[in-house]
Amino acid sequence: MKVLFAASEATPYLKTGGLGDVAAALPKALSDDPDAQVRVFLPYYKAIKDNPQLSVQYVTHFFLPLSWRSVYAGVFQATTGRDNLTYYFIDNEYYFYRDQPYGYYDDGERFAFFSKAVLEALQHLDWYPDVIHANDWQCALIPVFLRAFYMGLEAYRPIRTLFTIHNIEYQGKAPNSFVDECLGLPEDWRATMEYDGCTNLMKAAVLVSDRVSTVSRTYAHEIQNPYYAHGLHEVLRAHSYKLSGVVNGIDTQQFDPAHDPMIHVNYTAQDPAGKGANKRFLQQKLGLEVRDDVPMLIMVTRLVGHKGLDLVQAVMDDLMWDERQMVVIGTGEGQYEDLFRHYAARFPHKMSANLVFDDALARQAYAGGDLVLMPSKQEPCGLTQLIAMRYGTVPVVRETGGLYDTVPPFNPETMQGRGFTFKTYNAHDMLDAVRRAEALFRDPPRWDALRRADMAYDSSWGHSVQEYWQIYRSML
Ligand code: GLC
Repeated sequence: MKVLFAASEATPYLKTGGLGDVAAALPKALSDDPDAQVRVFLPYYKAIKDNPQLSVQYVTHFFLPLSWRSVYAGVFQATTGRDNLTYYFIDNEYYFYRDQPYGYYDDGERFAFFSKAVLEALQHLDWYPDVIHANDWQCALIPVFLRAFYMGLEAYRPIRTLFTIHNIEYQGKAPNSFVDECLGLPEDWRATMEYDGCTNLMKAAVLVSDRVSTVSRTYAHEIQNPYYAHGLHEVLRAHSYKLSGVVNGIDTQQFDPAHDPMIHVNYTAQDPAGKGANKRFLQQKLGLEVRDDVPMLIMVTRLVGHKGLDLVQAVMDDLMWDERQMVVIGTGEGQYEDLFRHYAARFPHKMSANLVFDDALARQAYAGGDLVLMPSKQEPCGLTQLIAMRYGTVPVVRETGGLYDTVPPFNPETMQGRGFTFKTYNAHDMLDAVRRAEALFRDPPRWDALRRADMAYDSSWGHSVQEYWQIYRSML
Protein backbone atom coordinates (compact mmCIF):
# COMPACT_ATOMS: atom_id res chain seq x y z
CA MET A 1 0.00 0.00 0.00
CA LYS A 2 1.17 3.53 -0.77
CA VAL A 3 0.81 6.03 2.06
CA LEU A 4 1.40 9.76 1.89
CA PHE A 5 1.94 11.17 5.37
CA ALA A 6 1.65 14.97 5.60
CA ALA A 7 2.62 16.97 8.67
CA SER A 8 3.99 20.36 9.63
CA GLU A 9 6.94 18.92 11.58
CA ALA A 10 8.94 15.73 12.03
CA THR A 11 12.19 14.89 13.78
CA PRO A 12 15.06 15.06 13.01
CA TYR A 13 14.16 17.85 10.57
CA LEU A 14 12.05 20.01 12.83
CA LYS A 15 10.25 19.50 16.10
CA THR A 16 8.33 21.79 18.43
CA GLY A 17 6.16 19.18 20.16
CA GLY A 18 4.82 15.64 20.23
CA LEU A 19 3.61 15.78 16.62
CA GLY A 20 7.26 15.99 15.53
CA ASP A 21 8.00 12.66 17.21
CA VAL A 22 4.90 10.97 15.86
CA ALA A 23 5.52 12.17 12.29
CA ALA A 24 8.92 10.49 12.44
CA ALA A 25 8.16 7.32 14.37
CA LEU A 26 4.84 6.37 12.79
CA PRO A 27 6.01 6.54 9.14
CA LYS A 28 9.07 4.57 10.18
CA ALA A 29 6.91 1.92 11.82
CA LEU A 30 4.64 1.80 8.76
CA SER A 31 7.67 1.25 6.55
CA ASP A 32 8.61 -1.84 8.57
CA ASP A 33 6.09 -3.53 6.31
CA PRO A 34 8.06 -4.35 3.14
CA ASP A 35 4.90 -4.04 1.04
CA ALA A 36 4.38 -0.46 2.16
CA GLN A 37 5.62 2.61 0.34
CA VAL A 38 5.63 5.59 2.69
CA ARG A 39 6.36 9.17 1.69
CA VAL A 40 6.31 11.99 4.22
CA PHE A 41 5.76 15.60 3.14
CA LEU A 42 6.97 18.56 5.20
CA PRO A 43 7.47 22.28 4.50
CA TYR A 44 11.06 23.15 3.61
CA TYR A 45 11.65 25.44 6.56
CA LYS A 46 14.65 27.68 7.01
CA ALA A 47 15.87 25.49 9.86
CA ILE A 48 15.98 22.50 7.51
CA LYS A 49 17.48 24.40 4.58
CA ASP A 50 20.23 25.93 6.69
CA ASN A 51 21.15 22.75 8.57
CA PRO A 52 24.41 21.49 7.05
CA GLN A 53 23.97 18.10 8.73
CA LEU A 54 20.93 17.25 6.65
CA SER A 55 21.40 16.02 3.14
CA VAL A 56 18.51 17.18 0.98
CA GLN A 57 18.35 17.05 -2.83
CA TYR A 58 16.38 18.99 -5.40
CA VAL A 59 13.77 16.94 -7.27
CA THR A 60 11.55 19.27 -9.28
CA HIS A 61 9.59 22.51 -9.21
CA PHE A 62 6.38 23.95 -10.64
CA PHE A 63 3.96 26.84 -10.28
CA LEU A 64 0.59 26.32 -8.71
CA PRO A 65 -2.56 28.43 -8.52
CA LEU A 66 -3.63 29.60 -5.07
CA SER A 67 -6.74 31.71 -5.65
CA TRP A 68 -5.51 34.58 -7.89
CA ARG A 69 -1.84 33.91 -7.17
CA SER A 70 0.50 31.74 -9.14
CA VAL A 71 3.19 30.55 -6.77
CA TYR A 72 6.44 28.69 -7.07
CA ALA A 73 6.76 25.35 -5.32
CA GLY A 74 9.97 23.36 -5.20
CA VAL A 75 10.18 19.72 -4.21
CA PHE A 76 13.25 18.43 -2.42
CA GLN A 77 13.85 15.03 -0.92
CA ALA A 78 15.88 13.22 1.70
CA THR A 79 16.47 9.51 1.79
CA THR A 80 16.27 7.61 5.04
CA GLY A 81 18.32 4.51 4.41
CA ARG A 82 15.12 2.61 3.67
CA ASP A 83 13.95 2.19 0.09
CA ASN A 84 10.31 2.40 1.01
CA LEU A 85 10.49 5.54 3.18
CA THR A 86 11.23 8.98 1.67
CA TYR A 87 10.89 12.50 3.02
CA TYR A 88 9.83 15.32 0.68
CA PHE A 89 10.11 19.01 1.42
CA ILE A 90 7.94 21.66 -0.20
CA ASP A 91 9.98 24.75 -0.94
CA ASN A 92 8.94 28.37 -1.19
CA GLU A 93 11.18 30.85 0.56
CA TYR A 94 8.53 33.53 0.83
CA TYR A 95 6.41 31.18 2.96
CA PHE A 96 8.94 29.03 4.78
CA TYR A 97 12.32 30.77 4.91
CA ARG A 98 11.49 32.36 8.24
CA ASP A 99 12.99 32.07 11.71
CA GLN A 100 10.07 30.15 13.22
CA PRO A 101 7.88 27.41 11.75
CA TYR A 102 4.63 28.90 13.03
CA GLY A 103 3.22 32.02 14.58
CA TYR A 104 2.87 34.40 11.62
CA TYR A 105 -0.15 36.46 10.60
CA ASP A 106 -0.33 34.53 7.33
CA ASP A 107 -0.01 30.98 8.73
CA GLY A 108 -3.34 30.13 7.12
CA GLU A 109 -2.06 31.08 3.69
CA ARG A 110 1.30 29.38 4.30
CA PHE A 111 -0.28 26.04 5.09
CA ALA A 112 -2.90 26.41 2.38
CA PHE A 113 0.02 26.70 -0.01
CA PHE A 114 1.71 23.68 1.55
CA SER A 115 -1.44 21.58 1.34
CA LYS A 116 -2.08 22.41 -2.29
CA ALA A 117 1.56 21.92 -3.25
CA VAL A 118 1.54 18.41 -1.72
CA LEU A 119 -1.37 17.44 -3.96
CA GLU A 120 0.05 19.16 -7.03
CA ALA A 121 3.43 17.49 -6.51
CA LEU A 122 1.95 14.05 -7.10
CA GLN A 123 1.56 14.75 -10.83
CA HIS A 124 5.14 15.91 -11.05
CA LEU A 125 6.46 12.90 -9.13
CA ASP A 126 4.09 10.64 -11.01
CA TRP A 127 3.34 8.89 -7.75
CA TYR A 128 -0.20 8.54 -6.44
CA PRO A 129 -0.83 7.19 -2.95
CA ASP A 130 -3.72 4.95 -1.95
CA VAL A 131 -4.10 6.90 1.26
CA ILE A 132 -3.23 10.39 2.38
CA HIS A 133 -2.79 10.66 6.12
CA ALA A 134 -3.06 14.38 6.96
CA ASN A 135 -2.23 15.66 10.43
CA ASP A 136 -3.62 18.63 12.36
CA TRP A 137 -4.99 21.91 11.04
CA GLN A 138 -1.88 22.72 9.01
CA CYS A 139 -2.74 19.81 6.70
CA ALA A 140 -6.51 20.04 7.02
CA LEU A 141 -6.84 21.55 3.55
CA ILE A 142 -5.39 18.50 1.84
CA PRO A 143 -8.64 16.50 1.96
CA VAL A 144 -10.56 19.69 1.11
CA PHE A 145 -8.47 20.60 -1.95
CA LEU A 146 -8.44 16.97 -3.04
CA ARG A 147 -12.23 17.00 -3.23
CA ALA A 148 -12.56 20.50 -4.62
CA PHE A 149 -9.85 20.58 -7.28
CA TYR A 150 -8.34 17.16 -7.97
CA MET A 151 -11.15 14.60 -7.96
CA GLY A 152 -11.82 15.32 -11.62
CA LEU A 153 -8.42 13.90 -12.52
CA GLU A 154 -8.43 10.17 -13.08
CA ALA A 155 -5.23 9.47 -11.14
CA TYR A 156 -6.42 11.31 -8.01
CA ARG A 157 -9.89 9.80 -7.87
CA PRO A 158 -9.05 6.62 -5.90
CA ILE A 159 -7.11 8.46 -3.17
CA ARG A 160 -8.67 8.18 0.30
CA THR A 161 -7.99 10.45 3.26
CA LEU A 162 -7.49 10.01 6.98
CA PHE A 163 -7.32 13.18 9.06
CA THR A 164 -5.70 12.93 12.51
CA ILE A 165 -6.33 15.40 15.29
CA HIS A 166 -3.33 15.71 17.59
CA ASN A 167 -4.79 18.58 19.52
CA ILE A 168 -8.25 20.03 19.01
CA GLU A 169 -7.26 23.32 20.62
CA TYR A 170 -5.55 24.46 17.43
CA GLN A 171 -8.20 24.42 14.68
CA GLY A 172 -6.92 26.83 12.04
CA LYS A 173 -9.43 29.66 12.11
CA ALA A 174 -9.59 32.53 9.64
CA PRO A 175 -12.05 35.20 8.56
CA ASN A 176 -14.68 34.04 6.06
CA SER A 177 -13.10 36.06 3.25
CA PHE A 178 -10.23 33.53 3.41
CA VAL A 179 -12.29 30.95 1.52
CA ASP A 180 -12.30 32.69 -1.85
CA GLU A 181 -9.53 35.27 -1.43
CA CYS A 182 -6.85 32.86 -0.35
CA LEU A 183 -8.11 29.35 -0.96
CA GLY A 184 -9.94 30.08 -4.20
CA LEU A 185 -12.70 27.64 -3.25
CA PRO A 186 -15.98 28.01 -5.13
CA GLU A 187 -18.98 29.52 -3.38
CA ASP A 188 -20.63 26.16 -2.76
CA TRP A 189 -17.80 25.26 -0.36
CA ARG A 190 -18.70 28.04 2.05
CA ALA A 191 -20.97 25.94 4.26
CA THR A 192 -18.34 23.23 4.61
CA MET A 193 -15.62 25.71 5.51
CA GLU A 194 -17.57 27.87 7.91
CA TYR A 195 -18.16 27.21 11.58
CA ASP A 196 -19.29 29.55 14.30
CA GLY A 197 -18.91 32.70 12.21
CA CYS A 198 -15.48 32.01 10.72
CA THR A 199 -13.56 29.66 8.47
CA ASN A 200 -12.47 26.61 10.45
CA LEU A 201 -10.05 24.31 8.65
CA MET A 202 -10.20 21.47 11.15
CA LYS A 203 -13.98 21.36 10.97
CA ALA A 204 -13.84 21.19 7.17
CA ALA A 205 -11.35 18.32 7.29
CA VAL A 206 -13.58 16.37 9.69
CA LEU A 207 -16.46 16.76 7.24
CA VAL A 208 -14.70 15.76 4.04
CA SER A 209 -12.15 13.14 5.13
CA ASP A 210 -13.05 9.48 4.72
CA ARG A 211 -11.94 8.73 8.25
CA VAL A 212 -10.92 10.83 11.23
CA SER A 213 -8.74 9.74 14.09
CA THR A 214 -7.17 11.11 17.20
CA VAL A 215 -4.27 9.96 19.31
CA SER A 216 -5.94 7.99 22.12
CA ARG A 217 -9.21 6.21 22.67
CA THR A 218 -10.23 8.37 25.60
CA TYR A 219 -9.50 11.60 23.72
CA ALA A 220 -11.73 10.37 20.88
CA HIS A 221 -14.58 10.34 23.41
CA GLU A 222 -13.54 13.53 25.15
CA ILE A 223 -13.63 15.65 22.01
CA GLN A 224 -17.32 14.90 21.64
CA ASN A 225 -17.79 16.74 24.91
CA PRO A 226 -17.83 20.53 25.30
CA TYR A 227 -15.30 20.52 28.17
CA TYR A 228 -12.60 19.25 25.82
CA ALA A 229 -13.72 20.11 22.29
CA HIS A 230 -13.00 23.85 22.08
CA GLY A 231 -16.35 24.28 20.35
CA LEU A 232 -16.16 21.36 17.92
CA HIS A 233 -18.05 18.72 19.95
CA GLU A 234 -21.18 18.80 17.82
CA VAL A 235 -19.16 18.36 14.65
CA LEU A 236 -17.29 15.40 16.13
CA ARG A 237 -20.46 13.87 17.52
CA ALA A 238 -22.14 14.07 14.13
CA HIS A 239 -19.13 12.33 12.56
CA SER A 240 -18.39 9.85 15.33
CA TYR A 241 -19.27 7.01 12.93
CA LYS A 242 -15.92 7.55 11.22
CA LEU A 243 -13.88 8.62 14.27
CA SER A 244 -11.34 6.36 16.00
CA GLY A 245 -8.72 6.77 18.71
CA VAL A 246 -5.34 5.16 18.15
CA VAL A 247 -2.85 5.66 20.94
CA ASN A 248 0.62 6.90 20.00
CA GLY A 249 3.73 4.88 20.59
CA ILE A 250 7.31 6.04 20.84
CA ASP A 251 10.42 5.07 18.94
CA THR A 252 11.72 2.52 21.43
CA GLN A 253 15.11 2.35 19.73
CA GLN A 254 15.65 6.05 20.09
CA PHE A 255 14.38 6.13 23.65
CA ASP A 256 16.21 3.24 25.22
CA PRO A 257 18.03 3.59 28.56
CA ALA A 258 20.17 0.58 27.66
CA HIS A 259 21.75 2.40 24.71
CA ASP A 260 20.92 6.11 24.94
CA PRO A 261 24.28 7.85 24.41
CA MET A 262 23.07 11.09 25.98
CA ILE A 263 22.55 9.76 29.50
CA HIS A 264 25.30 9.37 32.10
CA VAL A 265 25.07 5.61 32.71
CA ASN A 266 23.09 3.08 30.68
CA TYR A 267 20.83 0.62 32.50
CA THR A 268 18.04 -1.91 31.91
CA ALA A 269 14.86 -3.08 33.60
CA GLN A 270 16.71 -6.21 34.78
CA ASP A 271 19.40 -4.09 36.37
CA PRO A 272 18.06 -0.61 37.05
CA ALA A 273 20.86 0.26 39.52
CA GLY A 274 22.28 2.73 36.99
CA LYS A 275 19.34 5.01 37.70
CA GLY A 276 20.97 6.01 40.99
CA ALA A 277 24.13 7.13 39.23
CA ASN A 278 22.05 9.11 36.75
CA LYS A 279 20.22 10.79 39.60
CA ARG A 280 23.45 11.85 41.32
CA PHE A 281 24.83 13.06 37.99
CA LEU A 282 21.76 15.21 37.41
CA GLN A 283 21.78 16.59 40.97
CA GLN A 284 25.39 17.60 40.54
CA LYS A 285 24.85 19.06 37.10
CA LEU A 286 21.88 21.16 38.23
CA GLY A 287 23.32 22.22 41.59
CA LEU A 288 20.80 20.27 43.67
CA GLU A 289 21.71 18.52 46.91
CA VAL A 290 23.27 15.15 46.05
CA ARG A 291 21.07 12.66 47.91
CA ASP A 292 19.51 9.31 47.07
CA ASP A 293 16.82 9.38 49.72
CA VAL A 294 14.87 12.39 48.51
CA PRO A 295 12.35 11.87 45.68
CA MET A 296 13.04 13.79 42.50
CA LEU A 297 9.98 15.02 40.62
CA ILE A 298 10.57 16.06 37.04
CA MET A 299 8.46 17.97 34.52
CA VAL A 300 9.39 17.95 30.83
CA THR A 301 6.74 20.03 29.16
CA ARG A 302 5.81 23.00 27.07
CA LEU A 303 4.91 25.67 29.62
CA VAL A 304 1.37 26.31 28.39
CA GLY A 305 -1.93 26.48 30.24
CA HIS A 306 -3.51 23.17 29.19
CA LYS A 307 -0.53 21.25 30.63
CA GLY A 308 -1.97 21.95 34.09
CA LEU A 309 0.59 24.48 35.24
CA ASP A 310 -1.99 26.53 37.08
CA LEU A 311 -2.41 23.55 39.43
CA VAL A 312 1.33 23.47 40.02
CA GLN A 313 1.34 27.20 40.62
CA ALA A 314 -1.45 26.92 43.19
CA VAL A 315 0.49 24.49 45.41
CA MET A 316 4.03 25.53 44.59
CA ASP A 317 4.80 26.42 48.21
CA ASP A 318 3.66 23.01 49.42
CA LEU A 319 5.72 21.37 46.70
CA MET A 320 8.79 23.21 47.94
CA TRP A 321 8.32 22.74 51.66
CA ASP A 322 7.98 18.96 51.50
CA GLU A 323 11.12 16.85 51.23
CA ARG A 324 11.57 16.58 47.49
CA GLN A 325 13.50 17.95 44.56
CA MET A 326 11.93 19.33 41.46
CA VAL A 327 13.40 19.67 37.98
CA VAL A 328 11.49 21.58 35.30
CA ILE A 329 12.55 21.55 31.64
CA GLY A 330 10.69 23.45 28.93
CA THR A 331 9.79 26.81 27.47
CA GLY A 332 6.52 28.64 27.04
CA GLU A 333 4.35 31.31 28.55
CA GLY A 334 6.14 34.04 30.48
CA GLN A 335 4.02 33.70 33.62
CA TYR A 336 5.11 30.06 34.08
CA GLU A 337 8.73 30.72 33.21
CA ASP A 338 8.69 33.45 35.87
CA LEU A 339 7.04 31.14 38.38
CA PHE A 340 9.73 28.48 38.10
CA ARG A 341 12.54 31.02 37.92
CA HIS A 342 11.26 32.58 41.12
CA TYR A 343 11.12 29.30 43.04
CA ALA A 344 14.49 28.15 41.73
CA ALA A 345 15.98 31.35 43.13
CA ARG A 346 14.30 30.85 46.49
CA PHE A 347 15.02 27.12 46.82
CA PRO A 348 18.20 26.57 44.79
CA HIS A 349 19.01 23.19 46.37
CA LYS A 350 15.56 21.77 45.79
CA MET A 351 14.33 23.30 42.57
CA SER A 352 15.98 23.55 39.17
CA ALA A 353 14.30 25.57 36.42
CA ASN A 354 15.67 24.91 32.94
CA LEU A 355 13.69 27.16 30.64
CA VAL A 356 15.09 25.67 27.48
CA PHE A 357 14.29 23.04 24.89
CA ASP A 358 17.20 20.66 25.48
CA ASP A 359 16.85 17.07 24.32
CA ALA A 360 19.98 15.79 26.11
CA LEU A 361 18.98 17.35 29.42
CA ALA A 362 15.46 15.97 29.04
CA ARG A 363 16.82 12.46 28.57
CA GLN A 364 19.12 12.90 31.57
CA ALA A 365 16.08 13.91 33.59
CA TYR A 366 14.11 10.85 32.43
CA ALA A 367 17.10 8.73 33.45
CA GLY A 368 17.74 10.42 36.80
CA GLY A 369 14.21 11.27 37.94
CA ASP A 370 11.98 9.24 40.25
CA LEU A 371 8.62 10.75 39.30
CA VAL A 372 7.31 12.68 36.32
CA LEU A 373 4.38 15.04 36.82
CA MET A 374 1.74 15.61 34.09
CA PRO A 375 -1.33 17.29 35.55
CA SER A 376 -2.72 18.19 32.11
CA LYS A 377 -6.15 19.69 31.73
CA GLN A 378 -6.26 18.00 28.33
CA GLU A 379 -3.77 15.53 26.94
CA PRO A 380 -4.66 14.01 23.58
CA CYS A 381 -1.97 11.37 24.05
CA GLY A 382 1.16 12.66 25.73
CA LEU A 383 4.53 11.14 25.00
CA THR A 384 6.41 12.28 28.11
CA GLN A 385 4.76 9.63 30.30
CA LEU A 386 5.67 6.91 27.77
CA ILE A 387 9.29 7.97 27.58
CA ALA A 388 9.47 8.38 31.37
CA MET A 389 8.14 4.86 32.00
CA ARG A 390 10.66 3.42 29.60
CA TYR A 391 13.39 5.08 31.69
CA GLY A 392 11.85 3.80 34.93
CA THR A 393 10.45 7.15 36.05
CA VAL A 394 6.97 6.75 37.52
CA PRO A 395 4.18 9.00 36.17
CA VAL A 396 1.86 11.11 38.29
CA VAL A 397 -0.94 12.14 35.93
CA ARG A 398 -4.43 13.48 35.67
CA GLU A 399 -6.89 10.96 34.31
CA THR A 400 -7.45 12.44 30.88
CA GLY A 401 -6.90 11.46 27.23
CA GLY A 402 -3.85 9.34 26.57
CA LEU A 403 -2.71 9.70 30.18
CA TYR A 404 -5.79 7.77 31.24
CA ASP A 405 -5.19 5.12 28.60
CA THR A 406 -1.51 4.53 29.27
CA VAL A 407 -1.15 5.05 33.03
CA PRO A 408 -3.62 2.90 34.96
CA PRO A 409 -3.60 3.84 38.65
CA PHE A 410 -1.32 1.82 40.89
CA ASN A 411 -3.05 -0.22 43.54
CA PRO A 412 -0.71 -1.01 46.47
CA GLU A 413 -2.87 -4.00 47.49
CA THR A 414 -2.71 -5.83 44.19
CA MET A 415 0.50 -4.17 42.91
CA GLN A 416 -1.34 -3.60 39.61
CA GLY A 417 -1.07 -0.33 37.66
CA ARG A 418 1.71 1.91 36.44
CA GLY A 419 1.45 5.28 38.14
CA PHE A 420 -0.41 7.64 40.43
CA THR A 421 -3.46 9.46 39.18
CA PHE A 422 -6.11 11.99 40.11
CA LYS A 423 -9.36 12.72 38.36
CA THR A 424 -10.67 16.17 39.17
CA TYR A 425 -8.76 19.17 37.89
CA ASN A 426 -7.82 20.28 41.37
CA ALA A 427 -4.45 21.32 42.79
CA HIS A 428 -4.77 19.49 46.10
CA ASP A 429 -5.86 16.27 44.42
CA MET A 430 -2.69 16.57 42.36
CA LEU A 431 -0.59 17.19 45.47
CA ASP A 432 -2.17 14.18 47.12
CA ALA A 433 -1.23 11.98 44.14
CA VAL A 434 2.37 13.21 44.34
CA ARG A 435 2.46 12.42 48.05
CA ARG A 436 0.98 8.95 47.55
CA ALA A 437 3.69 8.28 44.96
CA GLU A 438 6.37 9.45 47.36
CA ALA A 439 5.03 7.23 50.14
CA LEU A 440 5.71 4.28 47.86
CA PHE A 441 9.13 5.71 47.00
CA ARG A 442 9.97 5.29 50.70
CA ASP A 443 9.10 1.58 50.46
CA PRO A 444 12.04 0.44 48.27
CA PRO A 445 11.04 -3.18 47.45
CA ARG A 446 7.59 -2.18 46.23
CA TRP A 447 8.92 0.93 44.52
CA ASP A 448 11.41 -1.16 42.68
CA ALA A 449 8.66 -3.55 41.53
CA LEU A 450 6.58 -0.67 40.16
CA ARG A 451 9.57 0.83 38.39
CA ARG A 452 10.33 -2.48 36.72
CA ALA A 453 6.71 -2.88 35.65
CA ASP A 454 6.83 0.59 34.06
CA MET A 455 10.04 -0.22 32.22
CA ALA A 456 8.53 -3.47 30.94
CA TYR A 457 5.47 -1.70 29.49
CA ASP A 458 5.36 -1.98 25.69
CA SER A 459 5.11 1.58 24.37
CA SER A 460 6.35 0.70 20.89
CA TRP A 461 4.25 1.38 17.78
CA GLY A 462 3.74 -2.36 17.29
CA HIS A 463 0.07 -2.50 18.13
CA SER A 464 -1.03 0.95 17.00
CA VAL A 465 0.54 0.63 13.60
CA GLN A 466 -1.73 -2.37 12.99
CA GLU A 467 -4.71 -0.22 13.89
CA TYR A 468 -3.63 2.37 11.33
CA TRP A 469 -3.29 -0.32 8.66
CA GLN A 470 -6.82 -1.40 9.49
CA ILE A 471 -8.14 2.14 9.11
CA TYR A 472 -6.27 2.59 5.81
CA ARG A 473 -7.63 -0.71 4.47
CA SER A 474 -11.15 0.11 5.56
CA MET A 475 -11.13 3.13 3.23
CA LEU A 476 -10.05 1.39 0.05
C1 GLC B 1 -0.04 16.97 20.61
C2 GLC B 1 -0.78 16.58 21.88
C3 GLC B 1 -0.06 15.45 22.61
C4 GLC B 1 0.22 14.30 21.64
C5 GLC B 1 0.99 14.83 20.43
C6 GLC B 1 1.28 13.76 19.41
O1 GLC B 1 1.15 17.61 20.92
O2 GLC B 1 -0.92 17.71 22.74
O3 GLC B 1 -0.86 14.97 23.67
O4 GLC B 1 0.98 13.32 22.28
O5 GLC B 1 0.24 15.83 19.79
O6 GLC B 1 0.12 13.13 18.93
